[in-house]
Amino acid sequence: MAELNGKAVMITGASRGIGAAAARAFAAAGAQVALLARSGPEIADIAGEIGQNAIAVPCNVARFTDMDAAVRACLQAFGRLDVLVNNAGVIQPIEGLAEADPDAWSTAIDVNLKGVFNGMRAAMPVMAEAGGGSILTVSSGAAHNPLEGWSAYCASKAGAAMLTRSCDLEGRAQGIRAMGLSPGTVATEMQREIKASGVNPVSGLDWSDHIPPEWPAKALVWMCGPEADAWRGQEISLRDPGVRAELGLA
Ligand SMILES: NC(=O)c1ccc[n+]([C@@H]2O[C@H](COP(=O)([O-])OP(=O)(O)OC[C@H]3O[C@@H](n4cnc5c(N)ncnc54)[C@H](OP(=O)(O)O)[C@@H]3O)[C@@H](O)[C@H]2O)c1
Repeated sequence: MAELNGKAVMITGASRGIGAAAARAFAAAGAQVALLARSGPEIADIAGEIGQNAIAVPCNVARFTDMDAAVRACLQAFGRLDVLVNNAGVIQPIEGLAEADPDAWSTAIDVNLKGVFNGMRAAMPVMAEAGGGSILTVSSGAAHNPLEGWSAYCASKAGAAMLTRSCDLEGRAQGIRAMGLSPGTVATEMQREIKASGVNPVSGLDWSDHIPPEWPAKALVWMCGPEADAWRGQEISLRDPGVRAELGLA
């Protein structure tokens, strides 16, 4: 497992779901964690529960100035930034291409694609200066396959997957480890929104088909260690039985 004692980890979208589970998992592995999301009270509660090794930084990933300020806050609190988890994401708008609201479509790109760029752009110089770090981005099967009503989600996740490859290409020589994690379907608020939409086969899945958020959280911690180095520049699928076996997930 990754050696995370004393390391500093910044997690976007940490107010609930996969991001909140990741914050708890990284803290349990000995890391100091900075929790980012727009919902200040929620991240403050989780940071308070974790204790003195956690800070809450209200942040809209769609704004570069917010992400840059969050990196500064992490450096001020912990003196370092070793891992960035680009996890924040939105599924809306769930609408056909021909009817989609252009502003809502644009917002999804701002969060899911530009938010990942903003994180990489803010963290890469700091990590390069320090000799390296890990930039993990939560991807999706939707990055590689279109689904009805999800054009904004699929297009933004496809762009984010390319950002992981770009980050590896440009950052590897500075010790930056860039990887994506495609978790499969996870029992979070996002799946509740998908179920409520009734659009495309994912909404028809049973709740018991989804994995718990603790599984991708465990995978993200593992991805910081040398065992995951073979995936640099690529995506790890949590549907892969070999990966599940390595992580001890049934
Ligand atoms: N659940 C699944 O089945 C599934 C499958 C594949 C991939 N994923 C990906 O996993 C990631 C986490 O999703 P989840 O399932 O945990 O969903 P979730 O429960 O809906 O959580 C989404 C998180 O993103 C944050 N967020 C949204 N917009 C933001 C913004 N502009 N700035 C900062 N934070 C923002 C939310 O916090 P605030 O609202 O407080 O800002 C929340 O913490 C996403 O990237 C998603 O695409 C999920």
